[in-house]
Amino acid sequence: MATLSNFLDLSQQSLQWSALAIAFNPIFWNIVARAEYRGHYLTRIFGGPYYGCYFLAFVIFSLGILRDHVYQLALADQPYYAPIHQPLLGGFLFAVGSVLVLSSMWALGLTGTYLGDYFGILMDSPVTGFPFNVTGSPMYWGSTLNFLGVALYKGKVAGVILTAEVFILYFFALRWEDPFTAEIYAKRERERAKSKGGKSS
Ligand SMILES: *[C@@H]1O[C@H](CO)[C@@H](O)[C@H](O)[C@H]1NC(C)=O
Repeated sequence: MATLSNFLDLSQQSLQWSALAIAFNPIFWNIVARAEYRGHYLTRIFGGPYYGCYFLAFVIFSLGILRDHVYQLALADQPYYAPIHQPLLGGFLFAVGSVLVLSSMWALGLTGTYLGDYFGILMDSPVTGFPFNVTGSPMYWGSTLNFLGVALYKGKVAGVILTAEVFILYFFALRWEDPFTAEIYAKRERERAKSKGGKSS
């Protein structure tokens, strides 16, 4: 008879650690980035916006590696469930996700990827080419596909549930981030318009 423990083991601590790591990362970087925008703490500590941003990039990147590692550990502790063991589909989704993540990093550069806007390091113009013509947030949705790909590749229900957590967190993170970064750029446009008007009058 099928019971919950046949496909999901909620008693595993590694599952809780993974859920915690997934929630922690986007909350952490959003709080740090907004504090930086308001107070420029990292800029001051590291002697300039670029060094501050590189430091934050290193921290976020490392937390991401840790989160992915804990996810792998959590899935290893979980029961295998044959119906969702879809290695081909899982591999395909992982490949698509990786293309989205890596190409958006390539298009945005280091400071563009890692919240440079909050340090005052703004891009000259919005990036509109691939992968941004596929989705407005290729980094987030690519990363979500990677989680799902691993879950299906390994046939772990817990992985699908953790992927749902990733999706929900990124969904709300974007609703919080996008208006804020849009306003950072809108502010620059207003200042540009003002200084142009000043010169010509
Ligand atoms: C996005 O841009 C790339 C490269 O410019 C292009 O090959 C691709 O067809 C575009 N995709 C969509 C969905 O417009």
